[in-house]
Amino acid sequence: MKKIIIGVTGSIAAYKACEVISLLKKKNQYDIEVIMTKNATQFVSPLTFGALINKPVLIDDFDETGYQIKHIQIVKNADCFVIVPATANIIAKIANGISDDVLTSAFLAATCPKLIAPAMNVNMYDNLATQRNIERCLTYGIRFIDPAYGKLACGDVGRGKLADVEDIVDLIEGSMYPQSLHLRNVLITAGPTQEALDPVRYITNHSSGKMGYELAKSARNLGAHVTLITGPTHLKKPYGVDIIEITSAMEMFEETKKLVEYQDYIIMAAAVGDYRPKTKAAQKIKKADHNFNIELEKNLDILNYVGNIKTHQTLCGFAMETENVIENAKNKFIKKNCDLLVVNDLFEKGAGFKGDTNKVAFITKNFVEYKDLMSKSQLADLIIDKLRKIKGE
Ligand code: CTP
Repeated sequence: MKKIIIGVTGSIAAYKACEVISLLKKKNQYDIEVIMTKNATQFVSPLTFGALINKPVLIDDFDETGYQIKHIQIVKNADCFVIVPATANIIAKIANGISDDVLTSAFLAATCPKLIAPAMNVNMYDNLATQRNIERCLTYGIRFIDPAYGKLACGDVGRGKLADVEDIVDLIEGSMYPQSLHLRNVLITAGPTQEALDPVRYITNHSSGKMGYELAKSARNLGAHVTLITGPTHLKKPYGVDIIEITSAMEMFEETKKLVEYQDYIIMAAAVGDYRPKTKAAQKIKKADHNFNIELEKNLDILNYVGNIKTHQTLCGFAMETENVIENAKNKFIKKNCDLLVVNDLFEKGAGFKGDTNKVAFITKNFVEYKDLMSKSQLADLIIDKLRKIKGE
């Protein structure tokens, strides 16, 4: 089990640390410890946190019992230390190496990945002193989960709201990955495209975008700079990823074209529409008594385009087949000049567009590797790992 330490400080948002813990607990993968400042106990009782983690929380170093030095003991073997919510005061202390209570002492002593999720009044957050302290913490390698814009507890509106709880959990989990893609640029396409017929109608497909979004998270977790070009989906946008939203295949192509040369890895997981209506009516098309034909023209194949102009980039394509799966996939692999082609059989149980799982085979230059059914998130990690190996990293 990985060990996560949650530090809680005195902010109205302290109750949200309970949500963070409860989401992490549900995963059954983490041993969680909580350290509270005395001020934090004014907002949420230590009993609440104790009940959530099934053990006592650490509050200050004067209640030492036994002979262990608790703030040192607690950070031993820790895999991640996150302060959520973090006040301006705790950030100032950390920036200056002050360790005058158990939380600051433990944070200073910890050598694992460290995260801070600030929550405070907008003017306190924007204050140059706070911003300077954040900058300084960043130089220590501490990562920040930036606060959101919104209505704050004091009534002001601005930046300072604790970041979204799911994003915080996502980043805590992500911080425990090795940073093996640090300084690497990864471009991912995801989701369906919509090819407009008139202002209210379009042609699309069933792609949910899940595979592409999981790939974006996976590459981000490994420290890459990730750009996700996405068609319309209902998914939550992954935190810490540059998002470019597009609607049509041509828009996806234009955005991809601009970025290709800067990438180390390109993964095209989008279900791009192969055709678009030849004309887009300016006004809504009214029904008539006769049948209606739509003339379609071919969209440019983005993967094919990238495969033909790529130089140093490692390229991964996807294929969804319903018959002659491996044979068709091998042809696609060659034609589109991929380094890896991930193929799934639409009729295979657990594979395909909408679910959270997938069952695929990897096509590379000389091999076909059949993979077991697994979650799209596990598969994303596996694909990134495979691409790193192909690149020789
Ligand atoms: N793709 C693309 N641009 C397109 C069509 C497809 O970039 N206009 C990419 C997809 O993102 C995917 C791969 O090509 O990575 C495979 O797409 P698929 O639709 O399965 O293959 P096609 O080449 O379109 O062949 P077919 O539809 O005949 O199976």
